[in-house]
Amino acid sequence: MGVVALVPAAGRGERLGYGMPKALVPVGGVPLLVRAVRGLFESGRVGHVVIAAPPADVDAVHTVTAPLAPAFGAVRVLAGGAERSDSVRIALAHALREIPDTTVVLVHDAARAFTPPHVVKAVVDAVEAGHEAVVPVLPVADTVKEVDDAGVVTSTPDRARLRVVQTPQGFAAGTLRRAHESGLHATDDAGLVERLGVRVVTVPGHQDAMKITTPFDLAVAEALFVGEAR
Ligand code: CTP
Ligand code: MG
Repeated sequence: MGVVALVPAAGRGERLGYGMPKALVPVGGVPLLVRAVRGLFESGRVGHVVIAAPPADVDAVHTVTAPLAPAFGAVRVLAGGAERSDSVRIALAHALREIPDTTVVLVHDAARAFTPPHVVKAVVDAVEAGHEAVVPVLPVADTVKEVDDAGVVTSTPDRARLRVVQTPQGFAAGTLRRAHESGLHATDDAGLVERLGVRVVTVPGHQDAMKITTPFDLAVAEALFVGEAR
């Protein structure tokens, strides 16, 4: 089966405030996007990667990521869109049009640069086992409150039933296509698919798949990962 990973990487990284698009920010000298793509290929389950890059950086991104592709695959780089969902839609359209036999599609944020390859493999395995939509998740450590517009607590969901969601999220290709053609909106791809009424299953995520959003996260990544093999 053909597994294609879409990597939305076109964001500006405003919360990180590093002065360049987040995907290009180095940790231990290696850009986050390069680390993310490397992890996808190291899973041994991904043949093609389609990157939605910052429009001004398409060539630079191609130069640093193309050599990472295995012999049976390739990296393609496109200009991303205004919102993350636009970037995913652009990359998905390219994959479905240009890459023959695309049966499984992963969507993986460049910002989750340290996702262990075994998490990628677990997501692909679950889709190939017949699940239309698969997300890696972690239990929630904090108690979570729902509040109203005034900040007054309205409820306390049962923490045992809550999960935080990571990437890569994995889908049967036709399911993700339907979700993006539906005109619905959600904050992640699994959310779109849920709205179609598709069953979304979970596999264990990993703390290393943390999303690098703020300077604090970048400092944590530097402290944890620099000097390690990855
Ligand atoms: N992304 C994208 N296209 C956009 C916006 C975001 O491809 N128009 C990507 C980012 O590059 C990132 C992922 O979606 O890999 C998750 O987005 P986020 O963590 O919010 O990154 P940024 O949008 O870059 O950060 P910020 O919101 O702080 O500007
Ligand atoms: Mg953003």
